[in-house]
Amino acid sequence: MSKIIAGNWKMNGTRQELIDMFDALENLPTNNTVILCPPYTLLNMTTPKNFSFGAQDCSTHDNGAHTGDISAKMIADTGAKYVIVGHSERRQDHNETSELIAAKAVKAIENKLIPIICVGETLAEYESGKAFDVVEDQMHKSIPAVKGEIIVAYEPVWAIGTGKVATLLDIEKMHEHIASVLGKIGRDETAILYGGSVKPGNAAEIMNVPNVGGVLVGGASLKVDDFVPIIQAV
Ligand code: PGA
Repeated sequence: MSKIIAGNWKMNGTRQELIDMFDALENLPTNNTVILCPPYTLLNMTTPKNFSFGAQDCSTHDNGAHTGDISAKMIADTGAKYVIVGHSERRQDHNETSELIAAKAVKAIENKLIPIICVGETLAEYESGKAFDVVEDQMHKSIPAVKGEIIVAYEPVWAIGTGKVATLLDIEKMHEHIASVLGKIGRDETAILYGGSVKPGNAAEIMNVPNVGGVLVGGASLKVDDFVPIIQAV
């Protein structure tokens, strides 16, 4: 089955770096859905075929006096198809709550973008055995009731940018749990991505875990030599 491979460039990337990535991806044979989420400054560039852009965040407003913010409407206007909401770096650095993230996801859906809604527990929550409850609570509060396609990304906070990856068994159990919560809220068809230190060497085994619909890749999506083998891993 085809997978979703999303690259989150975070606050990295110049025009030339994006051009180099696109040169490498232009004729890459893959049946997977490839999404690149560069900074807003690069969203207006033309993407190769079978390749989509996503943004890394959006405002809860459509327009107006909100200096520095970018709306889902503006992102859709660039031709992007996706937007990440609720990444743990935004939850931590900008004190974003799950309720705020749900409001952003609503704006995304209203503007025909697919929100990639991120959830995941901290190390302390993992170690105290609370991961399932934390993620379920984040899901109930961050996933809006409005109809429309969404993607959920499970990213244990302690695995992001640390080189530590959750075990395949942990990933399997959490994705099964997320799938069951999605079933309860009538969203069985939702793809669930895993994120956190995904690399060429572990991408295939992670994507072969049941209920893993693909991966959200940070650091390794910045380098052609890492991102290409991840796209081609399955
Ligand atoms: P990482 O980041 O792959 O660098 O761990 C993942 C993410 O934050 O989406």
